[in-house]
Amino acid sequence: MSGFSPEWLALREPADNAARNRAVLDACAQHFAGRDVLRICDLGAGTGSTLRACAAFLPDMQQWTLVDHDAGNLAAAYDVLAGWADAASRAGDALNLAWRGKAINVRTRVRDFARDPACWPENTNLVTASALFDLTSAAWIARFVKALQRTPLLGALSFDGVIAGAPAHALDARISAAFNQHQKSDKGFGPAAGPDAARVLEEELAESGFALTAGESPWVLAPSDLQTATAQGVAGAAVETGAVTRAEADEWRAHARTQLVIGHRDVFAA
Ligand SMILES: C[S@@+](CC[C@H](N)C(=O)[O-])C[C@H]1O[C@@H](n2cnc3c(N)ncnc32)[C@H](O)[C@@H]1O
Repeated sequence: MSGFSPEWLALREPADNAARNRAVLDACAQHFAGRDVLRICDLGAGTGSTLRACAAFLPDMQQWTLVDHDAGNLAAAYDVLAGWADAASRAGDALNLAWRGKAINVRTRVRDFARDPACWPENTNLVTASALFDLTSAAWIARFVKALQRTPLLGALSFDGVIAGAPAHALDARISAAFNQHQKSDKGFGPAAGPDAARVLEEELAESGFALTAGESPWVLAPSDLQTATAQGVAGAAVETGAVTRAEADEWRAHARTQLVIGHRDVFAA
């Protein structure tokens, strides 16, 4: 399992769904209540988990454009979505889904939006992105918010720098500091906003005149494959910074935890 593979995205999806901030989702649902049709564009869509998480509270007819630079993830999205829906049919490039009374039309766009954030169709009513902003840079976030031109945004699951294990381990603080330093390395958008992404995004949105509903959306991981894979990922990234040794990281990773918390924030802006 590596990078943003469909396997990794599938492993994290239940934790993401449990973590999503309910007040933020409610604010989004309320904003679009009463509409018949909504056109949504999801940036960094992966295999479409944002669609699956949001479909229930958005209008009965939804037209989604899923954008990602990874064509493999977008191809996998059609398979995962077809398996998730009650019924699915292909119509040319599009996928039509029926799910719990909703009619959902899906299209994909293979696009690298690192240079130009404005990759959504002109008539988009809602831009969404999950687990994306911490990969981008403060400068990109500023350009992105400007490009929105007040189109509402649901920005979910931005890592906020919190890593907390229970029971605690003597290396927690050093591993956490090293991981947060690693999170700031360039992911193709310039120096990554990493743990500052949610704060930067919320500040930019507020300065542009959006009204915000924001809140925490932490992963709270019991012992599980996801907890093991997350601890492994955190430890590996910490070693790459040179701030901890491989032996220290291995000791931290192998520590038996009843809980591992990875902090995130969600925001709805309109
Ligand atoms: C952490 S994954 C999140 C996927 C999905 N939103 C989810 O929550 O499951 C980040 C996604 O952003 C995509 N991505 C990263 N950099 C990108 C870029 N420059 N242009 C387009 N997509 C990008 C990756 O391919 C990946 O699918």
